[in-house]
Amino acid sequence: MNWNRSLRWASLVTLSLAIVIIVYRLQIVESAPRSASVKLWMNNKLSPDERADLVVKEMTLAEKISLLHGTGMDGLSPVSPLAVRSNGGAGYVVGIPRLGIPGIQMSDAAYGVRMSGDNGRYSTALPDDLAGAASWDLDAAFEYGALIGRELRDQGYNMSLGGGVNLAREPRNGRTFEYMGEDPVLAGRMVGQVIKGVQAQHVLGDIKHYALNDQENGRNAVNVNIDKRSMRESDLLAFEIGLRESDAAGVMCSYNRVNGDYACENKYLLTDVLKKAFNFKGFVLSDWGGVHSAAKASAAGLDHEEPGELFFGEQLEKAAKSGQVSMAEVDDHVHRILRSMFATGVIDDPPHRGVPDVVRGFEVAQKIEEQSIVLLKNDRAQLPLNASKLAAIAVIGAHSDVGMLSGGGSAQVDPPGGNAIMPPGQGRTEWQAHIWFPTSPLKAIRAKAPAAKVQYDPGTDPSTAAALAKTADVAIVFAEQWESEGMDLESLALPDHQDDLIAKVTAANPHTIVVLETGSPVTMPWAGQVAGILEAWYPGSRGADAVASVLFGDVNPSAKLPITFPKSDADLPHPILVKPPKESTTDSADTEAWRTIAKGLPAFQVTYDEGLKVGYKWYDAEKKEVLFPFGYGLSYTTYRYSSLKVAPGKSVRLSFELANTGARAGAEIAEVYAVLPASAGEPPKRLVGWSKVTLDRGESREVTIEIDPWYLSVFNVDRDAWQLLPGDYTFLVGGSSRDLPLKESINLK
Ligand code: BGC
Repeated sequence: MNWNRSLRWASLVTLSLAIVIIVYRLQIVESAPRSASVKLWMNNKLSPDERADLVVKEMTLAEKISLLHGTGMDGLSPVSPLAVRSNGGAGYVVGIPRLGIPGIQMSDAAYGVRMSGDNGRYSTALPDDLAGAASWDLDAAFEYGALIGRELRDQGYNMSLGGGVNLAREPRNGRTFEYMGEDPVLAGRMVGQVIKGVQAQHVLGDIKHYALNDQENGRNAVNVNIDKRSMRESDLLAFEIGLRESDAAGVMCSYNRVNGDYACENKYLLTDVLKKAFNFKGFVLSDWGGVHSAAKASAAGLDHEEPGELFFGEQLEKAAKSGQVSMAEVDDHVHRILRSMFATGVIDDPPHRGVPDVVRGFEVAQKIEEQSIVLLKNDRAQLPLNASKLAAIAVIGAHSDVGMLSGGGSAQVDPPGGNAIMPPGQGRTEWQAHIWFPTSPLKAIRAKAPAAKVQYDPGTDPSTAAALAKTADVAIVFAEQWESEGMDLESLALPDHQDDLIAKVTAANPHTIVVLETGSPVTMPWAGQVAGILEAWYPGSRGADAVASVLFGDVNPSAKLPITFPKSDADLPHPILVKPPKESTTDSADTEAWRTIAKGLPAFQVTYDEGLKVGYKWYDAEKKEVLFPFGYGLSYTTYRYSSLKVAPGKSVRLSFELANTGARAGAEIAEVYAVLPASAGEPPKRLVGWSKVTLDRGESREVTIEIDPWYLSVFNVDRDAWQLLPGDYTFLVGGSSRDLPLKESINLK
């Protein structure tokens, strides 16, 4: 044999074989189902929906089901061994490492990241959500969400459970501080920006509690009765606007029933309205323990059960295998979760733990609080205080020597060092404990008035407090009303004889300023006597510095009330809050309570027959005087409105002159209300726009505000659509819902 020839032959054969193998392998790759190792969905040039579809195709049924529920929570549902990988937040969903899908680490984060204490971490407390709404500042709202998003990432979370936007139909609701007030346009736009800020950090955002969970009493049993038009134009509108502005990944359905069905198995709410009418592309997750069925809830539009798998684990899997629940329905739930993860960036840019920027947190918290403190009264320009003219200041009440109050429940943020009013080492956050942040008004006031004698009295005995006030040039009384998830206020009156304290101090010293730390409006029988009132809300980590800056005029207040302060509980649409009968509650000592709740407690009825008349719309329609109206808030300067022009067009465009007529720079929130044609059958007026305008002293500016025609529309139930009615529209412009000096009408065809 010629070796050269045989070598050539051998090479040829090898080459041919290699070609055959390559072609063969290529064919396999082309014809075989795509192997998970290829992970085509990691190509971020594809749309989130395309990417999600590619993953869904690869998943087994068991994997799909694993994405549709959490891994349990003590006291609410059995805890799976997989929960050991949880980061310590309220919810944990296992990932699918084989497919490169990370787990979902959820944390409550209403005004900051929750449970940092338990987890040995730090988080900033921002002013509460209602306070944020009082800023009417969309940029501040974005910054609010962005800070939360950053701190969530630092702590290893990729989903936020904030975004509360239930309208304040019932201001005694113990969660009013977690929401954004009583107007759907203000609340919806503000919550939208918060969620946008969260999601810009590549954290899944959530909006809650959908819908009409407006009282905590009997929340797992109550059936809310309300007509469709009122829902769509009020409560659901806040969600609709919030979703349109943010593309929130998640909507949390609430505990209560609405018109007969639990919110988490309510086809009208979840499918007809949320997924179809609002075109919501994300996923619906249940409130914790808010699921009562598998097939019904799944068909109604629930995508994900939290915190465990009472219904969306084995039960849903069986239902899918038997055909009771179609595979397409299961796939849709899974698709919604995955597409949200791709869209928000939690897969492409997962969180890395790091040290939260504490200093920045303080700065943002203080800045937002400074924009959120509402100056409610300022007789004879008592404020701002002039430190050089004050020899003695009395600081009274509400633990103002050490701290300021925060809102409780699942919103609770843990203060560094523990509850400020407890001895060191004993201030661990307990459910329903009143938690104070270590931000001391006394210290902050001393820092602003270093030459004055600043003395403190706890306010527990009104006569000693009054005696101290008598010796001072000015008395500053801090007053509080604590609230939390899981309770409602018995009344809007301040608790613990604080009204009496304020009355006695004011009688002793007419230069009395009241600073309120409340999560809801409060009644003020002493309002006529005191010299000044500030609403500071639950002011967050740096509340005291913000309050002192406003008291001493380093900051000129600009916030406006996002909620009406009525004169008394008797003026509310429902003077008596409906409480559940015994059979509709569970015994708190019952360790199996969650099973009873899951089976369904007997319903009791709450009927929102005030309908469209939520908040100021109620007081306007009923011609009731109020203590402080919606949209109200004073400044240390004054403003003049003039020359309103209204131009119809695709969207109505208003312009007017706004002048700062006082002696210092300030920011005015200019509000626009519309009176709809009589044929609309609406309450007297509604908020349709606003602008926050910063003006130097003496400066005047033309302000232009475009009105979205949607905000002028009514919801036509027969057509199941929004409708802009033809007719005369009157626009009212000014600095509060009850002080609207400019008025102009136009006809819209
Ligand atoms: C609350 C939710 C919260 C969840 C998880 C529920 O009790 O209603 O707002 O996100 O718990 O903590």
